[in-house]
Amino acid sequence: MHDFNYKHNNLYCESVSIEELAGKYGTPLYVYSRNTLISHYRKIKEAFSAINPLICFSMKANSNFSICKALVKEGAGLDIVSGGELYRALKTGVASKKIVYAGVGKTEKEIEIAIRHHIFFFNVESIPELELINKVAARLGIQQKVAIRINPDVKASTHKYITTGHGENKFGIDFETARKIFLERNRYKNLSISGIHMHIGSQIVEAGPFIRAMERVVDFIRDLESHGAGVRWLNIGGGLGIIYSEERPQTAKEYAKAVLPVLKKAKANIIMEPGRFIAGNAGVLVTKVQYIKETPRKKFAIVDAGMNDLIRPNLYGAYHEILPVKSCSYSNSEEIKIFDVVGPICESGDFLGKDRKFIGLKEGDLLSVMGAGAYGFSMSSNYNSRPRVSEVMVDGSKVKLIRSRETYEDLIRTEL
Ligand code: LLP
Repeated sequence: MHDFNYKHNNLYCESVSIEELAGKYGTPLYVYSRNTLISHYRKIKEAFSAINPLICFSMKANSNFSICKALVKEGAGLDIVSGGELYRALKTGVASKKIVYAGVGKTEKEIEIAIRHHIFFFNVESIPELELINKVAARLGIQQKVAIRINPDVKASTHKYITTGHGENKFGIDFETARKIFLERNRYKNLSISGIHMHIGSQIVEAGPFIRAMERVVDFIRDLESHGAGVRWLNIGGGLGIIYSEERPQTAKEYAKAVLPVLKKAKANIIMEPGRFIAGNAGVLVTKVQYIKETPRKKFAIVDAGMNDLIRPNLYGAYHEILPVKSCSYSNSEEIKIFDVVGPICESGDFLGKDRKFIGLKEGDLLSVMGAGAYGFSMSSNYNSRPRVSEVMVDGSKVKLIRSRETYEDLIRTEL
């Protein structure tokens, strides 16, 4: 599953001990395994080899330059949602024909820069956006490909903040409106409206919702075809779930087996936008226990990482496994105690884990928060004026610092 394993009771990332990394680079620290990252990309690529899709890594999951660049080198495209992500994407050297751009609120400036760079597809989320892209493309004298993002109105069992394909969500366009757009697509002189996009949500562990959404979309494509409006590209989004604790998510192979028969009926080229599946288990957040605090009601392990470094537990009530970097075996165990692992931020919601069992946990111990490679650093902030942390990437026995720790000066650099 991933390359974070114990050797003689010490946690390693590939061939490098986490303790050594923490000693050298300090804590809190994001540590990534290059092998885990790349092997998850390859798992998807192989599972879908029968149709050879364009796999665009969803940069919002982890937009670190070295992470994206490693995937681009493997042949991945990039899925972006902002001018900032476009800027980062271009820096990786990815071919602009492998960039797809989603999001409900693209600004005119963002649209213009993306068109100038000849990105592959805009995934369009509303009619006003479609009109704006057409206007800008006309001004630039460029013919731009767009895909219409469909809201297939299916329910996916995931956290309510990360479901996106339900009728009440702000994302995508309903079938009826999309149909009108396709049948009148000649109105948009500077657009080639040649794709359909869907993304129904994130951390979806079963195939059912994907199949239901894809069946609806494929029926829609065939209906359009029968009216003379062919669709050449189908982007099925991301959303594949990973293991955080007890989940038994579908593997890439199982997912492919379930959806390929439906996708083949679309007779279109396929694009995918996985984020979490590729990066999620490729990263951990290493943190140090500052204090052990025992109150009459609770025991707290107060660590040096907070919700500004990893907000998922706070925002979604997400579970991340927390492992001791040096493990004790139960046979020579001292007392097992139950702790809330909390950060230094001035909010009661600042926790990384609740009611976690540890053996002999003490001040100075290192902990590894697992599954933090996706939506970890990329959602981190400077809240409480905390500098954002370093990130390192391990490749076998080699280690590369891929982002240095911010300084106090960085905190005020742009303030006047
Ligand atoms: N494509 C689109 C249009 C998306 O909106 C997303 C994620 C993806 C692809 C990638 O989805 P993935 O394969 O990673 O599930 N911050 C939340 C997740 C938000 C996902 C937003 N959209 C979390 O930490 O769980």
